[in-house]
Amino acid sequence: MKRYWIGTGWKMNKTYAEAEAYARALADFLVSHPPRVQVFIIPPFTVLHRVSDLLKNTPVQVGAQNMHWAESGAFTGEISAGMLQDCGAHLVELGHSERRAEFGETDYTVNLKVLAALQHRLQPLVCVGETTREKQFGVACESIVRQLKIALKGVSLAQIENVILAYEPVWAIGETGTPAEPAYANAMHSAMRTAIRELYGDAIALAMPILYGGSVNRDNAISLIEQSQVDGLFVGRAAWQANALIELIQMVDQISEERV
Ligand code: PGA
Repeated sequence: MKRYWIGTGWKMNKTYAEAEAYARALADFLVSHPPRVQVFIIPPFTVLHRVSDLLKNTPVQVGAQNMHWAESGAFTGEISAGMLQDCGAHLVELGHSERRAEFGETDYTVNLKVLAALQHRLQPLVCVGETTREKQFGVACESIVRQLKIALKGVSLAQIENVILAYEPVWAIGETGTPAEPAYANAMHSAMRTAIRELYGDAIALAMPILYGGSVNRDNAISLIEQSQVDGLFVGRAAWQANALIELIQMVDQISEERV
C-alpha cells in the first residue's frame, strides 16, 4: 500500500511568530495523532530553521521553496542546497509555476537545481504544469512530459527514488484558479507516470509519488485523492492555517485507513 503525501507551501506568507504558532499547533496535533500520510511543510527561508526545529520530533518533512544550483559564490540573494540542509530542510520545491512565470525559471535551471539538490540529499519536489494556452491548443501532455524529461535529465536510477513530482496546472493555481477535474488530473498523472516508466522502468514508475496541486481545498480533496494516479495533495491557500491543514490530514488519513 502506497503512502499518501499531503503538505503545503506557504509562499511569501507568515511572520516568525505566525510560523511558530502554526508549527506548534501542527506538532501538538501530530504527537497525539500519528498520521498515516506523509506530511510536509514548505515555509519561506526566513523561518525554515525555526519551523524545522519545532517539528523535529514529528514525522513532518520540512522543505524550501527554491534554491540555487551552485555550491556557493557571488549570487546575491540566492540560497544553496548546502545552506538548506544546514537549516534542517529535507526537501526542496523546484519549478513552481510562479517561479517559472515571474522569476525566469526554465526547464533547464530546474534540471540544474534537481541535480544539485540530489547531491546534497535533499528530496526535490519537482512541479510541472501546463498553461491555459497549452491546454487550449491541446498540448498539455506534451508540455508536462517535456518539463519532466528536462527536469530529470542526468538523474540516475539510484537517485530517482528520492524525487517527488507534483502536477500543478498553471490555470488551477491561486485566487483566480479553477481546480482540475479529478478525472483530468488523473489522466495527466497517468501521462507523467508513463514518462517515468519509459525513463526508469515499471517499479520506479509505480513507486513514484505524484502529487496534485492547484486550488485544493476541503471540498475537492477527497475526490482528487481518490483518483488511482494521485498520490498526494500539494495545498496552497486552503492550508495556510494549521487547523485547515490538520483537517485535510484527517480526511486523507481516513481514506488511507479505508484502503488498508
Ligand atoms: P493554491 O496553490 O492551492 O493556493 O492554488 C497551490 C500551489 O501553488 O502549489
